[in-house]
Formats: sequence, structure tokens, C-alpha cells
Amino acid sequence: MNALICFYSRTGTTRTLAQEIHEMLLDHDVECSIEEIEDIKKRDGKIGYAKAAKDALLKKETDIEEVTYAPADFDIVLIGTPVWSGTTTPAIRTYLNKYKTDLNKVAFFCTHGGGGKAKTFKAMKEVCGIEPEGTLSVLEKDVKNVKHFEAVEKFVKSLEI
Ligand SMILES: Cc1cc2nc3c(=O)[nH]c(=O)nc-3n(C[C@H](O)[C@H](O)[C@H](O)COP(=O)(O)O)c2cc1C
Repeated sequence: MNALICFYSRTGTTRTLAQEIHEMLLDHDVECSIEEIEDIKKRDGKIGYAKAAKDALLKKETDIEEVTYAPADFDIVLIGTPVWSGTTTPAIRTYLNKYKTDLNKVAFFCTHGGGGKAKTFKAMKEVCGIEPEGTLSVLEKDVKNVKHFEAVEKFVKSLEI
């Protein structure tokens, strides 16, 4: 069994979580690669934030950079996103839509400020049409205060990779 962790992160929280999941899978001797999805659209600053919120709310896709790894080469792809406007990000929406026919098994993870995780996972499932093997949602503040390791461990174990 091999795994790919694929994520988008605007301010680094989901990246931290993705890297921790990666390290944990490697510790479990899982063959595992990691890939950050890059949104070509500028998302920084106040205007970037406002446009990001609107694009997510309107379920918009975006242009993403070429990916390094072919998802079809992996038994499972763990896909991570921040919650934006109660749903997934345009970058992950684009990735899921573009590669949905190449995905074997999937699992989802997200970071958020307090709301929208269930709707986010529902949207991700709807876009790719695949029921996830597992999901993990972590509060942004718990990632920052390192209060989430137990949840990450439980998620990784539940996937039975
Ligand atoms: C445009 C935008 C919209 C957001 N909307 C929500 C939301 O609906 N619910 C929520 O709990 N957090 C929301 N957040 C907070 C992010 O989900 C949270 O800060 C996340 O951990 C950021 O991840 P990142 O650092 O990987 O970008 C939003 C953040 C942004 C930038």
C-alpha cells in the first residue's frame, strides 16, 4: 500500500498538519509522498482574503500549478484543505474535479476556525464522487498549540494503510 498526501494551504496550518500526517505514515513504514497544490491566483492580503471567501462560497475552481505526482499511482490519496466559507478551497475543488477519475481510495483532512468541517467533507465527496476511507478535522488553534496529535494518530490508524 502506498499513499499520497496532497494539500492546499494559504497560511501554513494545513501544511503543518499534512507534514505531521506524512511523518506519522513514514513512521508506520508506509511508502508515502507529499504534494502541495499551488493556487496560481493571488490569495494574500485583505483583497485576496475577500476574493478567496467569495470564490469558495460560489464553488469556483481556479488555475493550479502542474502536479508532480500522478494520483493514479497511489492506493490512497489523503487530501487536505482549509475550510473557506464553510466549504473546500477552489484549489482543492479543482484538484478533485481534475483527477477524480484517477483517484483510487481517498481520505480527507481539514483545518478550520470553528465551523464548516462537515459541509467541507460533503463538498469534497460530491466533487470526486468517492466516499472517503476516513476524515480528520482539526481546529487551527489546536494545530498551533499542538493539541491534535491524538486525533492525527487515530485518523492514520483508522485508514489501515
Ligand atoms: C477566505 C477564508 C474563509 C474562511 N472561512 C472559514 C469558515 O467558513 N469556517 C472556519 O471555521 N474557518 C474559516 N476560515 C479559517 C481557516 O479555515 C483556518 O484559518 C485554516 O486553518 C487556515 O488554513 P491554512 O493556514 O492552511 O491556510 C477561513 C479562512 C479564509 C482565508
